[in-house]
Amino acid sequence: MRGAVLAALVVLAVCGSCVGLRRHDVHGLLLPPPNVHNAPLPPDQWFTQKLDHSQPSDLRTWQQRYFTNDSFYKPGGPVFLMIGGEGKASPVWMVAGQWIEYARQHNALCFLLEHRFYGKSHPTEDMNIKNLRFLSSEQALADLAAFSAAMNVQHGLDASTRWVAFGGSYPGSLAAWYRLKYPHMVHAAVSSSAPLHAQTNFYEFLSVVSDALRSESGQECYSGVAAAFSELEQRIGGGDAGQLTKQFQLCAPLNVSAPEDVSSLVSSLADLFEGTVQYNKDNRAFEGAKDANITVTTLCDIMTSGRGGALDRLAEVNSLLMTAHGDKCLDYTYESAMKKMREESFDSPDNNGMRQWIYQTCSEFGWYQTSDFVRQPFGHRFPLAFSVQQCVDAYGPKFNKAFIEAAVAATNVRYGGRGLRVRRVVFINGSIDPWHAMGRTATRHRHTPVIYINGTAHCANMYPARASDLAELTAARRRVGRLITAWLRESHQ
Ligand SMILES: *[C@@H]1O[C@H](CO)[C@@H](O)[C@H](O)[C@H]1NC(C)=O
Ligand SMILES: *[C@@H]1O[C@H](CO)[C@@H](O)[C@H](O)[C@H]1NC(C)=O
Ligand SMILES: *[C@@H]1O[C@H](CO)[C@@H](O)[C@H](O)[C@H]1NC(C)=O
Ligand SMILES: *[C@@H]1O[C@H](CO)[C@@H](O)[C@H](O)[C@H]1NC(C)=O
Ligand SMILES: *[C@@H]1O[C@H](CO)[C@@H](O)[C@H](O)[C@H]1NC(C)=O
Repeated sequence: MRGAVLAALVVLAVCGSCVGLRRHDVHGLLLPPPNVHNAPLPPDQWFTQKLDHSQPSDLRTWQQRYFTNDSFYKPGGPVFLMIGGEGKASPVWMVAGQWIEYARQHNALCFLLEHRFYGKSHPTEDMNIKNLRFLSSEQALADLAAFSAAMNVQHGLDASTRWVAFGGSYPGSLAAWYRLKYPHMVHAAVSSSAPLHAQTNFYEFLSVVSDALRSESGQECYSGVAAAFSELEQRIGGGDAGQLTKQFQLCAPLNVSAPEDVSSLVSSLADLFEGTVQYNKDNRAFEGAKDANITVTTLCDIMTSGRGGALDRLAEVNSLLMTAHGDKCLDYTYESAMKKMREESFDSPDNNGMRQWIYQTCSEFGWYQTSDFVRQPFGHRFPLAFSVQQCVDAYGPKFNKAFIEAAVAATNVRYGGRGLRVRRVVFINGSIDPWHAMGRTATRHRHTPVIYINGTAHCANMYPARASDLAELTAARRRVGRLITAWLRESHQ
């Protein structure tokens, strides 16, 4: 997930089920997903879900959206559950993606359950701060369990039926945590690019982005980016606002005396690289991503082209991505981001999922992609204090640094961080996915293998296979397939 101005706050990607809260998805979310396979997409279905699983006596309910694909199912087959995350759930995942291939092989019944508070799944009337207390990963896990129990009854599945959970990014974490907290409901889990360790300051993100830039054309690309951001810093210091406004096609004139606006602008420009690295070469076109063919190589070719000065080349990168995303101008102001984050109505066009996701980061995970790492080329304009300020400004003074740190520590106690103890969960990480830095670092047990894919980005293994895929990626998909086959044969325990 990413967000332009909020890049400094959090950039978690949504794979599987979700569209991904990245800048362009503010528009993209509203479009129906294209259907490259020309299969009819399954319709919305609704599940009557409890509002508050922590209060058995609270009988309030709401309607949670889900999708079904029962085309492969044969009696006795397993149930595959794709876990929705921090964005609108897309039915295109019901007809395509690697998990569908596994489902075909195993005659699985497939469900995708949208995460509470995102997309069309609205547990409360609005997103007032009082209502947001019902938004948490714990409630989401309890939603999964209630849903599974009800589907077992509705579809007449007997007690020996094996459920396998799938998810990428935050839903990948949920898949592992679901297995941890509800082992009787879910037999195994495939957890892709999952951040397991909550951490307030995720400064490592820019370190991995820097490595990706360095591995492209040696030091040249990294140096080109560093030169551009250093020139940007000089222009800001020199009060050269008019020129920057024009060059970067800003929606509102830059006020160099407004520090939050400067932070927002610099982090938006850093985000151009962060987003491209995170999804580098992922086969996202089937989801409708309009920038799927723009890779780290594309950006580095521009940054090392020798055309104009370093800042001109940064402006060219900005312009390329704006065009791909269909943006007419760069909406960078702090005010504009806050307006969206303070929007409490689910129906507002400003509801792009950010109010919900950033709330989860402020109350559970942190993961702020700050500029606090020293050896990165993007300057130091978006430190942790900038992210914390956004929590306070969006949700109130209670959401200060001490609150966030306590919440993050509680999350690691609740789930066990990287050391969580689970069996029959496979963790898959990609070497150039910045999120791997919060992931499981090594295989600790044969029942919880880690598959490391050298050369791929966020959730690459979940996307449909392509002829151009790296051999390592193809091998990872096969290995996950073999694990699923082996685990489905194991008895419950
Ligand atoms: C399930 O997915 C397959 C493969 O894409 C598709 O052909 C089929 O129509 C889908 N079934 C339903 C009910 O959506
Ligand atoms: C620029 O920002 C400063 C600091 O926030 C503010 O005092 C000033 O009024 C702003 N100028 C304009 C033209 O908005
Ligand atoms: C990406 O694809 C679009 C249309 O399919 C094309 O216009 C554009 O030039 C491509 N960009 C790159 C960097 O290959
Ligand atoms: C990903 O998994 C591989 C293989 O276990 C491991 O060597 C690597 O450190 C992991 N990366 C991270 C940071 O999670
Ligand atoms: C990853 O791939 C690169 C390029 O193919 C290679 O140079 C490097 O040694 C590989 N690293 C590992 C850990 O296999």
